Amino acid sequence: MSGVKLTGVRKAFGSAEVIRGVSLEVPKGSFGVFVGPSGCGKSTLLRMIAGLENTTGGTIEIGGRDVTEVEPAKRGVAMVFQSYALYPHLNVYENMAFSLRLAKAKKAVVEEKVREASRILRLDDHLGKKPSELSGGQRQRVAIGRAIVRQPDVFLFDEPLSNLDAELRVQMRLELTRLHRQIGATMIYVTHDQVEAMTLADEIFVLKNGTLQQSGRPLHLYDDPANRFVGGFIGSPAMNFVDATVLRQDGDGIRVRVDEDGPEFTIPLSSGNVGSGARVVLGLRPEKLRLAEQGLPVTVEMIEELGGVSYLHSRTATGGDLVVERRGGREGMDGQRVFVTAEGSDILVFSPEGERLR
Ligand SMILES: Nc1ncnc2c1ncn2[C@@H]1O[C@H](COP(=O)(O)OP(=O)(O)OP(=O)(O)O)[C@@H](O)[C@H]1O
Ligand SMILES: [Mg+2]
Repeated sequence: MSGVKLTGVRKAFGSAEVIRGVSLEVPKGSFGVFVGPSGCGKSTLLRMIAGLENTTGGTIEIGGRDVTEVEPAKRGVAMVFQSYALYPHLNVYENMAFSLRLAKAKKAVVEEKVREASRILRLDDHLGKKPSELSGGQRQRVAIGRAIVRQPDVFLFDEPLSNLDAELRVQMRLELTRLHRQIGATMIYVTHDQVEAMTLADEIFVLKNGTLQQSGRPLHLYDDPANRFVGGFIGSPAMNFVDATVLRQDGDGIRVRVDEDGPEFTIPLSSGNVGSGARVVLGLRPEKLRLAEQGLPVTVEMIEELGGVSYLHSRTATGGDLVVERRGGREGMDGQRVFVTAEGSDILVFSPEGERLR
């Protein structure tokens, strides 16, 4: 089993640099997820680890071995793509056996490995079927089976579930978690879906514009984002941001006033030199906001009613969007003006440039 370590990895297509010096480590046996918006370079980075794209700069190590210049087949990795591209004329068994046969594996070895993969993926009842006779989830399991039979040290997944419907995606996520526990291999999974990242990852790596923004355990990123981008990207519904001005800073923190003439909050802040008059951006999680007698005035525009919980989509006096989570209480509030507030200790503070102030 091998971990994966990237050091100052860069990739340019012509004059366009799309990976700009990424250093990170996915420890052996762990489930790492690369997440970020479309075009941030997730697939490119994964393909570089697989050796399907060459590297413009930096080094890639797998299991402590520098593989930057090693050909794909010799890296001990297997990749599963979004489009599972099974051979339509071969049945499930033969699809999984294909790469082993190509490598001239003995018949008994092929049999053993395919049976094992099929057992792990619960495909035993489908081995004789053609891909066209399978559901999307079953097809994706066959694609994963093709990777498993090769017994790679590292599994690389590029958005393998995005072709599946929502319910099946949830089910396949559980399957992948189970698979990871069962075979214990290092896995790197790429997605633009932060919910998928949160539910699958041991460690999440947030990418933007070819740079690593932050890495850490899912809840660590949720609770303690390094910048506004990570705060806004991780969490659903997303973190709210409102502009504010610092009135004063003292030993305990800062006193801020939300624009324009909004409520004041005292927010604990240990470091960060933000003097009186400084402009800041407050980060407010929907579940940390509550309706109150006074606070920030907002107009409720729409209520997303999910049963146990509802989300009030509202607008502030300055025109910003604000989502408030509400549990219990189902009276309609559309168009109403209400006040929302939060505990100062639940508010995160960012500079206007998006850096986190702690
Ligand atoms: N072969 C290529 N030639 C030129 N530019 C490329 C090539 N492959 C990718 N790019 C560019 O590199 C950037 C990163 O692409 P990449 O496919 O890695 O993004 P991604 O994060 O996987 O996005 P998505 O979530 O949409 O799959 C994009 O701007 C893309 O246009
Ligand atoms: Mg991609």
